[in-house]
Amino acid sequence: MKIINQKIAVGFEFPVIFTRDALNPKNLSLGWALDRLKEPESRRAMVFVDAGLAQARPGLSDRITKYFIHYRHRLALVAPPQLVPGGEAAKNSFTHALRIVRGLLERRLDRHAAVVVIGGGAVQDLVGFAASLVHRGLRVVRVPTTVLAQCDSGVGVKTAVNFGTAKNLVGTFAPPFAVVNDFDLLGALRDDDWRGGVAEAFKVALIKDAKFFRWLCRQASTLRRRDPQAMARMIQRCAQLHLDHIRRSGDPFEMGRARPLDFGHWSAHRLEVLSKYRIGHGQAVAAGIALDAAYAVRLGWIAAEDFSALVKGLQQAGLAVWYPPLARRTRVGQRAIFQGLEEFREHLGGELTLTMPRGVGCCAELHAVDFKLMEECLLELKELHTHMVTD
Ligand SMILES: NC(=O)c1ccc[n+]([C@@H]2O[C@H](COP(=O)([O-])OP(=O)(O)OC[C@H]3O[C@@H](n4cnc5c(N)ncnc54)[C@H](O)[C@@H]3O)[C@@H](O)[C@H]2O)c1
Ligand SMILES: [Zn+2]
Repeated sequence: MKIINQKIAVGFEFPVIFTRDALNPKNLSLGWALDRLKEPESRRAMVFVDAGLAQARPGLSDRITKYFIHYRHRLALVAPPQLVPGGEAAKNSFTHALRIVRGLLERRLDRHAAVVVIGGGAVQDLVGFAASLVHRGLRVVRVPTTVLAQCDSGVGVKTAVNFGTAKNLVGTFAPPFAVVNDFDLLGALRDDDWRGGVAEAFKVALIKDAKFFRWLCRQASTLRRRDPQAMARMIQRCAQLHLDHIRRSGDPFEMGRARPLDFGHWSAHRLEVLSKYRIGHGQAVAAGIALDAAYAVRLGWIAAEDFSALVKGLQQAGLAVWYPPLARRTRVGQRAIFQGLEEFREHLGGELTLTMPRGVGCCAELHAVDFKLMEECLLELKELHTHMVTD
């Protein structure tokens, strides 16, 4: 036997820019991000826009076109901005992904061309997925436009579409070329899409940053009232924690057995599916982290007061900790939500590994779940929900 041991190390580097009014030609952020390698030749570019955003912001396509006219010596916009359906519907079939692949190929985008994606997390996932397949991966500049996309999904390295009855079952690891977070784009969000990202901030704070967790608890009502300064601060800290984890974990492409940034997600993903995606990702994450935190209390891993602070913070931020599909049972009488545990295990393979809070700002791995104890946690959440009013 002869073995040639091959070892390849590939580095990724991309800027995450926080700015305002990014589509004002005087704002150089997006132009700089697209042209950051200062290559000699001009490049082709295409822009994909979340249809929900376009509807909320009339005139957006014109602004984009004008922005690119300003940079035409460096970047040739080869087609008008392309609208993509917004929200989870975008990710629910391959049809949109294939249409985007076809569009990119028809416009002859090459590996030095740029794909700009302006939209929420679902549109980012969809277009990012399609672009990662064309010529084995085009450069994608993300302009995330929801709170959740700016503070979490938009700064990550994953793309995906849903398949069958599972979330994100088919996808790729594809770090972006650059990310431009424009706080001004958030103004027209629906309340639910404003609040959804707050759940991801609580998620990462509880397992990684006690100071941020306490800050979130104090600022929850302010965030709910749509205070732009508080939200900008939350987004930056939350994005920073996600970026730090991906950079430092030693496992950016999730080859190992844990996915710490998916704390609370085994039930959240299942809840989204059980609700036929009527419950948004952020809303489902709020219930998911509350559920696992309740379980962590029973393990003696976090104090009951910290759990109460989490639930109070989520509720003050306008996020519920309970939804009726959590009560649904399968034909054999098991809670339907528990199927999420097996799906979560299957995704990485091997032993079930859940990341749980262990003290505020820290986490530990859990490899087995006691269904009776988890049942108790579900009942507790339902009880807490009925005693608190959220709208
Ligand atoms: N890839 C990852 O690492 C990762 C991480 C977390 C979440 N996600 C995915 O992100 C998705 C959720 O993303 P989301 O919370 O951004 O919601 P979303 O993308 O579903 O968007 C919610 C709604 O807001 C609209 N919208 C977007 N921007 C707007 C704006 N500025 N003004 C008005 N309306 C606007 C959209 O059209 C849509 O109707 C889920 O599919 C989830 O699985 C991916
Ligand atoms: Zn999430």
